[in-house]
Amino acid sequence: MELISLKINGRCCHVAVEKNWNLLYVLREVLDMTGTKCGCDTNDCGACKIIIDGEAVTACSVKAVNAAGKDIETIEGLSRDGHHLHPIQQAYIDCGAVQCGFCTPGMVMASKALLDKTLTPTEEQIREALKGNLCRCTGYVKIVEAVKRAGKLLIEEGENNGM
Ligand code: FES
Ligand code: FES
Repeated sequence: MELISLKINGRCCHVAVEKNWNLLYVLREVLDMTGTKCGCDTNDCGACKIIIDGEAVTACSVKAVNAAGKDIETIEGLSRDGHHLHPIQQAYIDCGAVQCGFCTPGMVMASKALLDKTLTPTEEQIREALKGNLCRCTGYVKIVEAVKRAGKLLIEEGENNGM
């Protein structure tokens, strides 16, 4: 075992890991952060997408030891106060972009990585950003709408905060 330091949603934690453990395993099974879903564990479905150093990545494709010292964001960190939904989560609900919901945490995190770069993404940019996230339920139309709405909500939020 190796003791590593992970920075997750702004907080540092020390965790003992085996060299071959992936970050998804550590999040779900060691740290009990089950908001990040496991659909395949083989880097095929996108359900486990998180953000590392500003980029959306699948947690099952990253060795935990290689994530040490990096800035990791998971779905648990989205709510700013622990009570209210993040505007991206709200937009997914507003647009009916959630059906079974299993793919949703990964979709939301991929959406956040995109919206952190631009609040007015084109449909093409949205589809490109979400192309590694498989959803068997929605047909993606409502998901694309949700990402556009999330950008609008974030712009309004910025205006209301005088930014
Ligand atoms: S669980 Fe990681 S891509 Fe499917
Ligand atoms: S909402 Fe069911 S897989 Fe996406």
